Amino acid sequence: MAVDIKQIRAQFPALHQEVHGHPLIYFDNAATSQKPKMVVDAIAHYYNKENSNIHRGVHYLSQKATDKYELAREAIRRFINAPSTEEIIITRGTTEAINLVSSCLSKWLFQPGDEIIISAIEHHSNIVPWQMACEQSGAILKVIPVLDSGELDMNAYRNLLSDKTKFVTVNHISNALGTINPVEEITSLAHEKGALVLIDGAQATPHMSVDVQSLNADFYCFSAHKMYGPTGVGVLFGKKEILEKMPPYHGGGEMIKEVKFEGTTYNDLPFKFEAGTPNIVGGIGIEASIRFIEEIGIENIAQQEAELLAYATQRLKDIGGIRFIGEAKEKAGVISFIIDGVHPYDAGTILDKLGIAIRTGHHCAQPVMDRYSIPGTMRASFAVYNTKEEIDTFIEGVQKVKQLFT
Ligand code: ALA
Repeated sequence: MAVDIKQIRAQFPALHQEVHGHPLIYFDNAATSQKPKMVVDAIAHYYNKENSNIHRGVHYLSQKATDKYELAREAIRRFINAPSTEEIIITRGTTEAINLVSSCLSKWLFQPGDEIIISAIEHHSNIVPWQMACEQSGAILKVIPVLDSGELDMNAYRNLLSDKTKFVTVNHISNALGTINPVEEITSLAHEKGALVLIDGAQATPHMSVDVQSLNADFYCFSAHKMYGPTGVGVLFGKKEILEKMPPYHGGGEMIKEVKFEGTTYNDLPFKFEAGTPNIVGGIGIEASIRFIEEIGIENIAQQEAELLAYATQRLKDIGGIRFIGEAKEKAGVISFIIDGVHPYDAGTILDKLGIAIRTGHHCAQPVMDRYSIPGTMRASFAVYNTKEEIDTFIEGVQKVKQLFT
């Protein structure tokens, strides 16, 4: 193992508790990860010692809070290798980032008859905003189909692309299937048609190295809470030349240069897209979560999770009677599956009684479930602090479920 699991687990108080009389096994990391002490401490320290509003005070605390918030923005820039902090907008999360882009592009770019391409394996947060954009602008939604393996049908994608394509968006990693999409290829094919591209990286930044310059997507977004950081805060990266042309999203304080009743001029990037007092402590929490990831090394995290994925997949295969939903060659540490003849909800409830937290249901990706004609799946998703011993206990739990129901 590339990482010192004992030392890592020691940083997560939440992992050291019993649930229904059993040691907690937390395999619901695609929904949200647990938080290391250094993130919780950074948040507590801010509220205990540094709490103040930012960008608007000459006093000591305000300057200090401003410096920390802007240092967080710099840490985010470095983390995804963005060229400039002007291109880093701090949002409430991935969902808000996508809504920001879809809303601004509806006002500015999309015309009736333009086409927006999404994929069949998107989270609802990367479907509904584009349906709304189509309603508002008269654009038309097109969907890249998914193959039985859980991989996108790239031939179908090539055929969907045309001079009418204005925008393409896909997730980097599917939350429901674990598929890692070929986002560089998807982006460069879209660019050949002059379309803009947004990548939903919510499931990617906790698990793999992301370099927005080499991906070359126009927008990239993610959430802190899936990468050991707090809820309610996330990031939108956007290329400067596009953000400069885009109209603002929300109006209010901070996003302005000058307000007169005759008209308002807007602030420079990135503040033009950050109306109101931001989630200051959220920014500080992201910085701490990036430090946590960088101290272990994202490559080491990826390797640890790949080992867990391979081990758990093999052990589930050995049980028999398991249907895997999503078996892409390039896959992150997410296993979606069904035990033949057992409703995922029943199975999840029994595992919970054994102290094992997995997610069951449609995972906010109902079209994926429709595609495979299933009501939902059981989903185990791993983080760096998970272990093979936990997988062994999980496998015993799955076997118990099978015995009870079949
Ligand atoms: N998108 C989150 C999940 O996949 C909530 O569980």
